[in-house]
Amino acid sequence: MANETEKTAVTTENGRKFLWSFQPKSGKDAGESIVRNFLLHWFPAKSAERSLSWGYSFYLGTITFALFLILVVTGVVLMFLYVPSVERAYQSVKDIENVVSFGWFIRAMHRNATHLMVIFVFLHMVRVFLGGAYKNGLGGGQLRPINWIIGVVLLLTTLFLAFTGYLLPWDQLAFWAVTVGTDIARTIPLIGDEVRFILIGGHEIDQNTLIRFYVLHCFFLPLLMVGLIVYHFWRIRKDGGLASYDTIVNKQEKIKESNGGGKKTYSLLGITKGRTVEVESTTRNEDAHTVNSIPHLIRRVGLVILATFVFVAVMSLFMPAPLEEAANPDVTPNPAKAPWYFLWLQELVTITTFTLFGITFDGGFIGGVLIPGVLLIALCVWPFYDKSSKDATGVWFAKERLRQNLVFIVICFAIILLTIIGTYFRGPFWEFYLPWEAWPDLPRIL
Ligand code: HEM
Repeated sequence: MANETEKTAVTTENGRKFLWSFQPKSGKDAGESIVRNFLLHWFPAKSAERSLSWGYSFYLGTITFALFLILVVTGVVLMFLYVPSVERAYQSVKDIENVVSFGWFIRAMHRNATHLMVIFVFLHMVRVFLGGAYKNGLGGGQLRPINWIIGVVLLLTTLFLAFTGYLLPWDQLAFWAVTVGTDIARTIPLIGDEVRFILIGGHEIDQNTLIRFYVLHCFFLPLLMVGLIVYHFWRIRKDGGLASYDTIVNKQEKIKESNGGGKKTYSLLGITKGRTVEVESTTRNEDAHTVNSIPHLIRRVGLVILATFVFVAVMSLFMPAPLEEAANPDVTPNPAKAPWYFLWLQELVTITTFTLFGITFDGGFIGGVLIPGVLLIALCVWPFYDKSSKDATGVWFAKERLRQNLVFIVICFAIILLTIIGTYFRGPFWEFYLPWEAWPDLPRIL
């Protein structure tokens, strides 16, 4: 009998280890483990009223997240139907369009959500910048500049996810857009050819490229995205919510900066006795300025996700995903354009290509690598060079940040302008044409 009890104890112990290896020694231990727990703390118990207002963040990050959810759901459905082989990819996409019930709709949703996600992640970044929301406020323990850098990686991951997906239909549009896009890598000095080789798995875009892009698109990049998003959200929670809050509220409370963030204690929902855990507080006089996150925050987030879903669904009824002829490496379209979100780079390459004393300087490196590289580095280090005071944290168009906001807006407008020119004003041989101007009767394919 004793043996039997011992056996059960061992099994339970093993099971516990397998499911929950952390063994709290005391009530305080248990409480602290929850405070420090990653998953249980995405949403705070209370949220600042101001940061919940529609007009402060426009919920652009939440919309971006909702679009990612749509992409995951529709993407998984498409994976059941798509075949990542050069011989069969195009036909499988054609079947999704014409044979599978509602296949065209799922594909349209996936494609439209991709384009919208690129747009909304950009808009979200613009709002964070213009609102000085990458800066730490008066509260303690904040690391908003780190979350900004995580955001920059999220932006790059979004672009790379969209780019790798672009090739999969294996039609002319996909093949040549990816050819133009990956050709830019060639212009990196010394290692350009090697970088392109690694990217496409050889010298030509073929089966190796397709399977490489497929695995990146369906597995590695979504996984990376999920990990980064989880950390991004957890960081917002740790930073005491959105930046709007602590600046405005702390100012109202006339807290001196030298006071730091202060401390507060939690009673932990009665899980442990007494007030057990002491953590750094990001805010003061919480009760006067906050409301319960459930239902106030959760309701809004739910509504935004639902509205995004409905918008993409309705949009997809009217905007089906395009599918051209099957890819043909021997027939180059004229003009051959990169995906629209890289057209500003293609345009930059054109502008920076010039001839001097009979020598042509290729803009591939300056426009395709150097300028975007400098912009990317500037984006990452900006929060550390922004010396404006904490009063400008989470304040839209703060006077102190006027100059840097203007520089940022000018750069954003330049990128948008170049994208529009590349999309609507470029014709055969990359000549400039007005959108309503007829293109000359040149061969449309080379
Ligand atoms: C997949 C991409 C992304 C998702 C899903 C996402 C999601 C979110 C969400 C839901 C919020 C809460 C506030 C809001 O809705 O605006 C937020 C805040 C924030 N995001 Fe993102 N984000 C993404 C990309 C980025 C990028 C590209 C940047 C900047 C380069 C960035 C920087 C920040 C910062 C600094 C905050 C805190 C802002 C504050 O305290 O007011 N995020 N993000």
